[in-house]
Amino acid sequence: MISVTVNGKSYDLDVASDTPLLWVLRDSLGLTGTKFGCGVALCGSCTVHVNGKATRSCVTPISAVAGQSITTIEGLSSDSTHPLQVAWTKEEVPQCGYCQSGQIMAAAALLSQKPKPTRQEIDRALSGNICRCGTYLRVRRAIEVAAAMTQNGGAQ
Ligand code: FES
Ligand code: FES
Repeated sequence: MISVTVNGKSYDLDVASDTPLLWVLRDSLGLTGTKFGCGVALCGSCTVHVNGKATRSCVTPISAVAGQSITTIEGLSSDSTHPLQVAWTKEEVPQCGYCQSGQIMAAAALLSQKPKPTRQEIDRALSGNICRCGTYLRVRRAIEVAAAMTQNGGAQ
């Protein structure tokens, strides 16, 4: 048994220790907001937080996160009012949507470290998140909008 906390809830999982975290999230826990893209840490679509840090769940064995706290897109806020979710809607960021939960989770990790990132810091933090629809400019704008919202005392 491997114990993990996902979105604030504890689970004891009967899975092989080398099972990727992404498989556990999607197949064992039914949290399908986190997407499988490349499976080899190259696209960022599987990004979740492990103890607040952006992490590629496709190459993270479940044994490596035993006892740790994981947050997925489903756990970012209870009612979709995280500033990034509000900004994403306002700026109409997604196209097909496939990469978007990974983009938002990477952005959320950045904003929790740097509430007011420069454009360069945004580009650097999100550089590993690939979007085949080319939403990069809107992703960046939404992060800036979310950062401004937070500065102005907007939703958490
Ligand atoms: S699916 Fe994990 S980085 Fe592409
Ligand atoms: S919105 Fe389609 S891959 Fe990014």
